[in-house]
Amino acid sequence: MKIAITGKGGVGKTTIAGAFARLYKDKGYKVLAVDADPDANLGSAIAGVSKIQQEIVPISQMKKLIEERTGAKPGTVGSFFKINPKVDDIPEKLGTELLGIKLLVLGGVEKGGGGCICPESALLRSLLRNLLLERDEVVIMDMEAGIEHLGRGTAESVDVFVIVVEPGLRSIETAKSIRNLARDIGIEKIFLVVNKVRDSEKGCVEEKIRKEIPDLPIISWISENQKVRLADIEGKSSYDLDEMFVEEIDSLRKKLEAVVG
Ligand SMILES: Nc1ncnc2c1ncn2[C@@H]1O[C@H](COP(=O)(O)OP(=O)(O)OP(=O)(O)O)[C@@H](O)[C@H]1O
Ligand SMILES: [Mg+2]
Repeated sequence: MKIAITGKGGVGKTTIAGAFARLYKDKGYKVLAVDADPDANLGSAIAGVSKIQQEIVPISQMKKLIEERTGAKPGTVGSFFKINPKVDDIPEKLGTELLGIKLLVLGGVEKGGGGCICPESALLRSLLRNLLLERDEVVIMDMEAGIEHLGRGTAESVDVFVIVVEPGLRSIETAKSIRNLARDIGIEKIFLVVNKVRDSEKGCVEEKIRKEIPDLPIISWISENQKVRLADIEGKSSYDLDEMFVEEIDSLRKKLEAVVG
């Protein structure tokens, strides 16, 4: 199972991705959690804030590694470098183990005008291609709203693409543009998860979403949850703090598995 989670800032992508990683781990799977958000914090959603996780150096900042693998110094635009560098040993060598889950922090890539074709993005792209195409564990990717590390050929290996929205038109607008980007690179299975929902709002939110993005099915709802908020305030993982949240995440997992087949 390879799951990508995206959505507007603050909707709950990291919270959901972290809980997913824990859930699959507890079910006995080998899990690789990929933090593809430049402002990385997936580690704390998995295991709470910790020193190990705060000291992780993102792959995109490993200058020596990038030069060694691509043959060019990071940040050099227009120089010659390998577009298919060796990456298959990176998860084992550079992943951080958190509660039995392998965490890989990709980091951000400085963008020049018109997108970046530079050694560090070549390395990250190859790495994602490897994670999605060659590896057999559950891969959970926490992505920002942009999905630039995914390209054609790689995107097809994402089993499900989850766009998280919250009640409010702003996150729904973002979902529309993510949907367009995703379709452009050949991603087919795209679903909405509505997070932070109060029971009393559900009907109205559903109506709005149906009107705005009729072509994207809502696969699951996750309740507005005080304990999830508190977990973040206390630097803990929501997975450890609230059973109802875990049940809702498990219900989402079952529905995603049903559509993947
Ligand atoms: N179901 C929920 N109920 C209440 N609060 C929630 C819920 N889900 C997430 N939150 C809270 O919303 C905030 C943002 O969550 P999170 O960091 O997971 O979002 P994100 O989409 O990853 O944000 P970013 O775009 O900054 O990476 C956190 O404080 C989190 O605790
Ligand atoms: Mg996040």
